[in-house]
Amino acid sequence: MNFTADRLLLFGATGDLSQRMLLPSLCALHADHLLDPDLRIVATARSEMSTREFRQFAREALEKYLPTNRRGPMADFLNRLTYVPVDATTPEGYDELAKEVGEYDGLAIFLSTAPSLFEPTISNLERVGLTKGSARIALEKPLGTDLGSSCEINDAVAKAFSEDRIFRIDHYLGKETVQNLLALRFANILLEPVWNSNYVDHVQITVAETVGLESRVAYYDDSGALRDMVQNHMLQLLALVAMEPPTSFDATAVRDEKVKVLRALRPAKAEEVVTGQYRAGAVDSQSVPGYDEELGKDSDTETYVALKAHVDNWRWRGVPFYLRHGKRMPKRVTEIVVQFKCIPHSIFEGRGAKTEPNRLVIEIQPEENIQLTMMAKVPGLGTDGLRLRPVPLDIAMPDAFSDVVRRIAYERLLLDLVHGDQTLFVRRDEVEAQWEFIDHIRAVWAENDTEPKAYAAGTWGPSAAIALAERDGVTWHDD
Ligand code: BG6
Repeated sequence: MNFTADRLLLFGATGDLSQRMLLPSLCALHADHLLDPDLRIVATARSEMSTREFRQFAREALEKYLPTNRRGPMADFLNRLTYVPVDATTPEGYDELAKEVGEYDGLAIFLSTAPSLFEPTISNLERVGLTKGSARIALEKPLGTDLGSSCEINDAVAKAFSEDRIFRIDHYLGKETVQNLLALRFANILLEPVWNSNYVDHVQITVAETVGLESRVAYYDDSGALRDMVQNHMLQLLALVAMEPPTSFDATAVRDEKVKVLRALRPAKAEEVVTGQYRAGAVDSQSVPGYDEELGKDSDTETYVALKAHVDNWRWRGVPFYLRHGKRMPKRVTEIVVQFKCIPHSIFEGRGAKTEPNRLVIEIQPEENIQLTMMAKVPGLGTDGLRLRPVPLDIAMPDAFSDVVRRIAYERLLLDLVHGDQTLFVRRDEVEAQWEFIDHIRAVWAENDTEPKAYAAGTWGPSAAIALAERDGVTWHDD
């Protein structure tokens, strides 16, 4: 379904995501002449306002969230926008909306709304003929709270849209460094021969955040860290690290390989998962309250998860994947560490020199860096013995590509939606395999009455998470 839409219909246009990400991304794409001159954006939300008022609202969002050097001629961009107030749950307003969308060659619909609104929105869109033909739809997470509810959402969407017209967003797939994982693995000959259980000892995936609950109180307390971050972003990262080489860089080939990994995930045992919840502490030298205090009530929602996953296939037999994610960690970092095995025999041991295994660190944010540590001889005559030390081979992506604009994930994803390219969107079978893995963990928690362990804000989570890795002789990277 590769063809360019000339209408973008944006639901939830006054929401937080729209203000912070969607409108700024569209404006930046416009400024760089990457949007078709004919593309019109019809924005909709519940608030009663005119197009003129919405344009002013959008202008304020852009001034707040889009750096000045990426704005371009903002008035031209704002002229692409029209606004129609619609209460997604009632039929009123949709005829007006259809009139505003008018004649089009391709329609892209973006639902940046609560998932409970997906079904009524889609059936109303269907009634006024906006789901027909090549119309495609993008959906924001959370796509359900478990496999059952996710299937209900997917079934409701599937009534009006075939799978090749459904674009499920996982914004991590829009991040440059995440896409670069594919380039690193499949555009180089060096890594692939050692990318397996013969050479890799284990893999670590960390997504640490310094923020706490932020403003999403009800959502987060229902969801928790496992469903908020592991079910989607972290399992997608794992799939990209572990997948077999796809035959081409296209939506079917890439997603076929990812889903095989997700389906090969072994159901986790109780002792392979640790959960935590932050208490008061200090982050960046600032005192911060505990989760319960932020929430205003007691809760046993986890704000931290660490787990040991296994991909049961030929390539990864016996290679654990350690995943951890937490709020109120000491620093914000998303990284993938591929820890290689020790050399089989050291010729230097007789001279007293120790070797350490190689390690590849792919830092996704806040910096985009790729670092491979190699053993090297410490210069000198070696009168007190030969010494070896790990030294990094570093690729700092911003330096390597200093002449290229760094784009936020939604620029990539919105452009792909408009062009109809699904490669960086999640297919239904992937989402379902992700939920199966997560639902099993939650069932194990329920069986064992698992409660999150306390950790002080500004630390790397409960000590049980350190023990989870240490039991296998593994240390979390950079703690
Ligand atoms: C969202 C989660 O999907 O991703 C948030 O709901 C989280 O809780 C956010 O903070 C992290 O995204 P990023 O791009 O800042 O790493």
